[in-house]
Amino acid sequence: MNENKRPETMERITTPQLAEAFIAEQLAALREQIGDKKVLLALSGGVDSSVVAALLIKAVGSQLTCVHVNHGLLRKGEPEQVIRVFREELGAILIYVDAVDRFLDQLAGVADPEKKRKIIGKEFIDVFAEEARKLDGIRFLAQGTIYPDILESGPVKSHHNVGGLPEDLDFELVEPVKFLYKDEVRVVGKALGLPDSMVYRQPFPGPGLGVRCVGAITRDRLEAVRESDAILREEFAKAGLEGKVWQYFTIVPDFKSTGITDGLRTYDWPVVIRAVNTVDAVTAEVAELDFGLVQRIVARITKEVKGVNRVLWDVTPKPSGTIEWE
Ligand code: XMP
Repeated sequence: MNENKRPETMERITTPQLAEAFIAEQLAALREQIGDKKVLLALSGGVDSSVVAALLIKAVGSQLTCVHVNHGLLRKGEPEQVIRVFREELGAILIYVDAVDRFLDQLAGVADPEKKRKIIGKEFIDVFAEEARKLDGIRFLAQGTIYPDILESGPVKSHHNVGGLPEDLDFELVEPVKFLYKDEVRVVGKALGLPDSMVYRQPFPGPGLGVRCVGAITRDRLEAVRESDAILREEFAKAGLEGKVWQYFTIVPDFKSTGITDGLRTYDWPVVIRAVNTVDAVTAEVAELDFGLVQRIVARITKEVKGVNRVLWDVTPKPSGTIEWE
């Protein structure tokens, strides 16, 4: 049997009942595989790693250690949510690593998109490996691999996943959701009691806001990306579009233009808004947004985000544009 092939008899998990059955089965399998040994998990707060964490907390409790690396490229409120949900509500052992300065220092002055991705990926592994070495007796490494990652062996996830740990860290893998599709992971996450804001999160690239702060990342432009993204998400949620538009976010390019605020000329950055619908991210259509919503977003971003005087709307489908700008 190919251990990377979804069993043909496996029913598609579409209901809470099927999710409960999957959870019961996985808890037994995890307990059997792990025994009384210790497991480590890189917990980004994305739906896949969050579901794996919730399963492992149920299966083996304090034998699990989660590591959450804040690389400074997360969305507003994300590290806080990970800590609140996993440490405070679910009682997980969670190591929070503030690596913001370390990542941003490495990235300073680097404008090439692929170099940025490589630095983020490598730095992530370094930080994670350093934390792993501080811990005694870890035998297993848990990962939120899902079935599309195996099928495509990932144009998407290969960029950033915790593959390729140094040789001294030869953990055995634990991958409880590796046969699930994304929609099934969400059904399981819901049944595990994770909050909707985690379960129904839109896809978020591994290099995070780093690929939306175009060119060489600076802290002020990164803050403009983070703040404008938070406003965009808030306005989409108020308009009832959460979970209805596939992916929506903001980008801050590295050029300025003149504008005017309170009678004074300004020379500031633009924010670009991008909202797309797709089935598989290979092609994408621009989401048709209500113009009143666009105007509310423009008004808030130009008023509330420091260093920004203009908002542009990217209406390019994929192709010819990719979804992200880098
Ligand atoms: P593009 O920009 O290639 O993106 O049209 C397609 C989908 O993949 C996401 N994406 C990434 N995800 N690491 C990831 O985990 C990455 O480096 C990466 N780059 C793009 C993007 O957000 C979109 O959903």
